[in-house]
Amino acid sequence: MKVGVARERLVGEKRVAATPESVSQLVRLGLAVSIESGAGAGAGHADAHYAEAGAEVVEALELPSVDILAHVRPIHPVTAASLQAGAVTVGLASPSTELPTVRALVDRRVTAFALELVPRISRAQSMDALTSQALVTGYRCVLEAAIRLPRFFPLYMTAAGTVPPAKVLVLGAGVAGLQAIGTAKRLGARVSANDIRPASADEVASMGGTFIHLDLASAESTAAAGGYARELSADRGALQRQLLAPHVAESDVLITTAAVPGRRAPLLVTRQMVAGMKPGSVVVDMAAESGGNVEGSVAGEDVEVATEDGMGHIIVVGLKDAASAMATDASRLYAKNVANFIELLVPSKDGVVQPDFEDAVVAGACLAHDGEVRHEPTAEALAVLTSTAAQNEGGTARGASSADETEEGAG
Ligand code: NAI
Repeated sequence: MKVGVARERLVGEKRVAATPESVSQLVRLGLAVSIESGAGAGAGHADAHYAEAGAEVVEALELPSVDILAHVRPIHPVTAASLQAGAVTVGLASPSTELPTVRALVDRRVTAFALELVPRISRAQSMDALTSQALVTGYRCVLEAAIRLPRFFPLYMTAAGTVPPAKVLVLGAGVAGLQAIGTAKRLGARVSANDIRPASADEVASMGGTFIHLDLASAESTAAAGGYARELSADRGALQRQLLAPHVAESDVLITTAAVPGRRAPLLVTRQMVAGMKPGSVVVDMAAESGGNVEGSVAGEDVEVATEDGMGHIIVVGLKDAASAMATDASRLYAKNVANFIELLVPSKDGVVQPDFEDAVVAGACLAHDGEVRHEPTAEALAVLTSTAAQNEGGTARGASSADETEEGAG
């Protein structure tokens, strides 16, 4: 059976779903690999390296002949509709925002696996693309801050005087946050962090950070199933911001990575809190693309916020495409995640894809199969979208045509 790897179509996306190394792994499974010319260029892999590893390099993939489509970004609905019935897709699918693609996959009876849905159990760690890409992003956001900060991170004791270390505050100590703590420590900064999951205090300490305990004084649990956070109530969110304000004010660098699965990123830092920082301080909002932890952050842009006294400014970086900016190592890890997942789908290592839906990892990661959505929240969201579209169709002809235009323009 044939694995197809296309050039990523999103402008600026440099990652690739297969590296020459992962191609070798797929070939050893008895699979043929077809990759579009230039697909690995952004990650530093030439066509010739893929050919040496055993891939066929083509100008454009023939989608109807592909059995497994490996991708990084969610595929376009037109791509989904071009696949053969029964084909398999493996990659990041962002089901909550890419419902038209989900519908196309279902209509085409494609078996789609979303790497975001891989269960977070030990056995699946080698396939966990959220973790591998968060590691890259956590590292990168510290470098983005360091390059903009008009100060050193480490302590320097020189003949010309002592330079104190920079103070870095990390909010949200999941995979990316812990990586940010470790990176900032390695650069010599003094690092503190906060998270609402009780378990994170020990994790922060193990990375060399100081955990900031906030007394949010409530019996409400902050931990949800799977080790994830639960959304705070409005009152507790406000209290958290109030208690964090002095810690934010004394930081030179603030890095925010807080997220709650399936929800808009929580607002942890108001514009007023940013304005209370010292002039020249830097804020990096890793959640800028999913609503932002910092009020006023804009994904992909640096925003200047004036200090309270109007004498200087703070830079707020809305981090975007951070993993793509580190395309070589991000792809190295991502392609390995993809190949390991495909290996799970080829149990006899004979080049034949046979997903075992009794396997918790296969079943958990399955977004669509045999004409059905297999992920409950996505099925519900798609049902809402379908019924809204039906209601619109029942409305004025003008309303219906504008909805169609929106969808056509989506990709
Ligand atoms: P995430 O990207 O969903 O969230 C990032 C962090 O933001 C989390 O630590 C969360 O607690 C925190 N957060 C949410 N709301 C907050 C608020 N209001 N204030 C401060 N912090 C807030 O999480 P990520 O990085 O995907 O991992 C979450 C947890 O999942 C891990 O710490 C771990 O327990 C578990 N995990 C398990 C794995 C495994 O067993 N294979 C692999 C990776 C993660």
